[in-house]
Amino acid sequence: MGPAISARGVVKSFGQLRVLDELTLDIPRGVTYCLLGPNGSGKTTLIRAIVGLLKLDAGDLKVLGTPVSRVQEIYSKIGYMTQHKALYPDLTLQENLEFFAGLYGIGKQEREQRIVELLKMVNLQGLSRRLAGALSGGMYQRLSLACTLIHEPELLLLDEPTVGVDPRLRQTFWEYFERLASDGKTVLITTHLMDEAEKCRIVGYMKAGKMTAVGSPDEIKRQAGLKPHLELWLKDIESDCARLRAEGYEIEILDGVARLRLESHKQIKSVLEIVSPLDMRLKEPMLEEAFLQLSEAA
Ligand SMILES: Nc1ncnc2c1ncn2[C@@H]1O[C@H](COP(=O)(O)OP(=O)(O)OP(=O)(O)O)[C@@H](O)[C@H]1O
Ligand SMILES: [Mg+2]
Repeated sequence: MGPAISARGVVKSFGQLRVLDELTLDIPRGVTYCLLGPNGSGKTTLIRAIVGLLKLDAGDLKVLGTPVSRVQEIYSKIGYMTQHKALYPDLTLQENLEFFAGLYGIGKQEREQRIVELLKMVNLQGLSRRLAGALSGGMYQRLSLACTLIHEPELLLLDEPTVGVDPRLRQTFWEYFERLASDGKTVLITTHLMDEAEKCRIVGYMKAGKMTAVGSPDEIKRQAGLKPHLELWLKDIESDCARLRAEGYEIEILDGVARLRLESHKQIKSVLEIVSPLDMRLKEPMLEEAFLQLSEAA
């Protein structure tokens, strides 16, 4: 089986504004793939293109092997959670879920069971009779996710699904997404939160309508040349640093703390053979720094 999504030279402009600029990407099946990028970089536009809501100006886009011009034929395999409100405010939670289940032709018995299961997952089980329009922001997001998952789609397109969701439930969502991926489903997700991006198998950084970096979080850090650092609190900082530098270590002193660049974690032992710090801390590189570096270079 080919990739879940494959885009080649995709172009989409709104008037003078080229929002997708010869964008090329492949999203394999059975992964969590995080699409990152600044506001306005084209993430939502790309997702809308994938579900066939936009007509492309140029390029080739395939979704689960089907050309996007025929994507309607495979709608039952796709779950799309939009960035904006898309549920019926005058229907209750239960009715919204039943409506979406009906759209996808899910039988009555299976429907009831799915609804109970999903309401539990999003922790709204006691509220099935409340109107969707009367939910808080985070609760609404949770209901939207439940509606998106009702037909057990093979491909999930989730546009900022965790906005406004509290940290504990975000954790539950992520565990669920990882489980879906390990069951072979593909989860494409946008977020502005780096801790969420770190959880994904693949992250793709989008800038001005192009993918500027793609890889696992570790690969991205490596591509950007970022290494872990060891922060050292030293009694005699100048002479200790001189000794470390003489052994070839790269060190910066910032606010009385020595910041030593590690090529690998194994070097920590050798450092401790040269100096005896009062205290120390290992700082792993941050994905955010990597993207800043890569997007400046692009
Ligand atoms: N229907 C439209 N008509 C005109 N311009 C549009 C339309 N849809 C999107 N745009 C413009 O395209 C650009 C990309 O928008 P898009 O919503 O894809 O960004 P995004 O990466 O999802 O941003 P965010 O992180 O804020 O959600 C923006 O400048 C936006 O104003
Ligand atoms: Mg968006």
